[in-house]
Amino acid sequence: MDTEHIANITAEHAKRLLAEDSLIPPPTSWAGAGGTLLGTEHAVALATRSEISPTAAEALWRPLVEHRLDVRLAGSDPGARLGELLDAWEPHVRECPRGEWDTAAIVVRPSRDTAGTEELIRRGFAPGRVIAVRPADRLGGGPPAVPGVRIRRAEWRDRPTAVRLLLELLRYDAQFGLVTPRDAAERVVTEQVDRELAQREPQLWIAELYGEPLGIAQLQLPPASDWVRGQVSAGRVGYLTSLNVAEQARSTGVGTALAEHAHQVFDEAGAEVVLLHHALASPRSTPFWYAQGYRPLWTYWYRRPAVR
Ligand SMILES: CC(C)(COP(=O)(O)OP(=O)(O)OC[C@H]1O[C@@H](n2cnc3c(N)ncnc32)[C@H](O)[C@@H]1OP(=O)(O)O)[C@@H](O)C(=O)NCCC(=O)NCCS
Repeated sequence: MDTEHIANITAEHAKRLLAEDSLIPPPTSWAGAGGTLLGTEHAVALATRSEISPTAAEALWRPLVEHRLDVRLAGSDPGARLGELLDAWEPHVRECPRGEWDTAAIVVRPSRDTAGTEELIRRGFAPGRVIAVRPADRLGGGPPAVPGVRIRRAEWRDRPTAVRLLLELLRYDAQFGLVTPRDAAERVVTEQVDRELAQREPQLWIAELYGEPLGIAQLQLPPASDWVRGQVSAGRVGYLTSLNVAEQARSTGVGTALAEHAHQVFDEAGAEVVLLHHALASPRSTPFWYAQGYRPLWTYWYRRPAVR
């Protein structure tokens, strides 16, 4: 496949996406990216495979083996073109053992690029995770603030509470099939908390009610959030890493108080947008974030296990 063919399809794909969503950045170059190029007259894709160790920090959030397809669609029927690319990809995915839970086939698409959604469903994919975006000036709603709730920066004495609340979040999210319980979870989370607490101004915030810690929010400001900057067409990008409210305190406004505080911190840091990942199937996080002024930017379509 020649580079001119790829460039022409990419340009048409980018134009189509820009019309749908001005916050989606132009597609990145595949030069030197590795993987296998797949293509037809009006569509191209890059198929990649990655594998990580179960003790790696990322293993908490992803299957160990991931096959990913990055697609670019042109022509008058982009949905049909996506179907053809998915079929061309299938033999590559089939190297995974049938039924192996720690594998997934993943297609990450701009949420508003809905062409070909049916083709994904037909082949066993489901929308699992979203990167949601909130422009800085967006208003959010929520219940009135709980009287007595106080948000403060975490300190070393909060270490056990922070670890407990973040592990509780992992356990809650594991229900939705994309977070995998791992033996290394407590060690990984403790290391993350320690790294954060060692900062001069830790971006770890505790919500407490009359001295009892009930919730936690973990934030990344630029440059710590720069790893996610390429996902959105904006200059300064903040990332909301985690938010959890203790089970007994949910639905009482503590989450809203933490989110409002986080947005204030992002505003002060000059973030133009804030991004976060959340599980679409979560009956808690999905409605919560959309009430707080977020909306879907990228949708991760999963088939897990990769081969059934
Ligand atoms: C998601 C989560 C952080 C939200 O925190 P929370 O403290 O439960 O949320 P709040 O009480 O501030 O807000 C939710 C409530 O506000 C209500 N609400 C939303 N918009 C409102 C508005 N405009 N006016 C009045 N009430 C409103 C909702 O109806 C909801 O109440 P309900 O559950 O009785 O329907 C929390 O539920 C949680 O920790 N869930 C598990 C972990 C998780 O999913 N974390 C996010 C990971 S990405």
